Amino acid sequence: MIRSGKFIEQTESFSAHNYHPLPVVLTRGSGVWVWDVDDKKYLDTLSAYSAQNFGHCHPRIVSVLIEQAKRLAVTSRAFYSDRFAEFSMKLAQFCQMDMVLPGSGGAESVETAIKLSRKWGYERKRIRPNSAEIIMCSDNFHGRTTTIISGSDSSQARKNFGPLTSGFKIIPFGDPDALGRAITPNTVAFLVEPVQGEGGINVPPDGYFQEVRRICDRYRVLLVLDEIQTGMGRTGYDLAHFYENIYPDVLILGKALGGGMLPVSAVVGWRHQMDVFRPGDHGSTFGGNPLACAVAIEALDVLREENLAERARDLGGYFMGELKKIKSRLIKEVRGRGLMIGLELNGGKGIGRRFCEAILRKGVLCKDTKENVIRLAPPLVIGKAEIDAAVLKIRETLLEMEGIEQ
Ligand SMILES: Cc1ncc(COP(=O)(O)O)c(C=O)c1O
Repeated sequence: MIRSGKFIEQTESFSAHNYHPLPVVLTRGSGVWVWDVDDKKYLDTLSAYSAQNFGHCHPRIVSVLIEQAKRLAVTSRAFYSDRFAEFSMKLAQFCQMDMVLPGSGGAESVETAIKLSRKWGYERKRIRPNSAEIIMCSDNFHGRTTTIISGSDSSQARKNFGPLTSGFKIIPFGDPDALGRAITPNTVAFLVEPVQGEGGINVPPDGYFQEVRRICDRYRVLLVLDEIQTGMGRTGYDLAHFYENIYPDVLILGKALGGGMLPVSAVVGWRHQMDVFRPGDHGSTFGGNPLACAVAIEALDVLREENLAERARDLGGYFMGELKKIKSRLIKEVRGRGLMIGLELNGGKGIGRRFCEAILRKGVLCKDTKENVIRLAPPLVIGKAEIDAAVLKIRETLLEMEGIEQ
């Protein structure tokens, strides 16, 4: 613990306190495992908030990263590149959509989708200048930029960051009638997560997105799906919306698209909407750089070749089943889809954090959200034996906490 203490102290002294990390200092990883600086081994059930679907340091992705880094890394989009060409085609085909607009982080691509929706609204739907409305859901999480937090209903996310951007409306998640009621002639888009992540792993009722699709079509509103957390196999499907057999108008990907190596994100859409962007309308220096593209291409191949979506479906079902067998008065609900699982605890403020700190000491990494929901989202390469080990530690932790928590 001597070494950990030094790094924690340095971090707390020299970095802004916009996170509250668990007291562990990681230094290496492989697959579902990570090690701290004192060489203690942990099972990672957070996967960097689902950025790590392929497992830490996946050998194929590492090797592509090294090779591409030696060849060509960053060029800007002032020129064409072989890797960007291949990435665009492969990602569009993976999503079964037409076109890709690359970025370097989730929030950046959410911003891109917002701009795309507004521009489409003015130029194609012909709504009045500066009147565009975008509908979002309560408990949404789409990132931290000033515009994105303007559509958040979290007071902490918004407080003292104003003036905020106007043009957002909030409706309850999972209620298609509320969407129908909220739409006005100025509505350009409905921006929503297929399964809410930071909001507490909230799974909508079956058929919700089919109904949402019908409503968006009826009123000519773009359905913008934020699959930054749910995409890339996480929920048991390549993309979570395949569960309901629908297509969005605009799709946003990030996190695992970077193969657990680099920040890579994208907006994916259809030609007749994407073509509202003309040269000079939008862009970013690093978006679509050859190094990022090479890693993302390999990540897409690994996802397919290792059947990770299928694994997530099977093992997610198994994991949830085992969690449901745990008898503890501290468990309120187990819910999720694929390997995106929420364990909701009974108890007051801070119970989630106390659980995560206790299970950390037993060698399992996880993170609370919404105070009392433990998010269990391990790398999709996890095996049954590792799930059994995690369930055992979760059970032990809950039993120990039962004696202490009121
Ligand atoms: C659904 C969703 N959208 C957007 C984001 C923001 O992504 P980033 O942190 O890469 O900006 C996140 C991050 O947790 C997310 O879960």
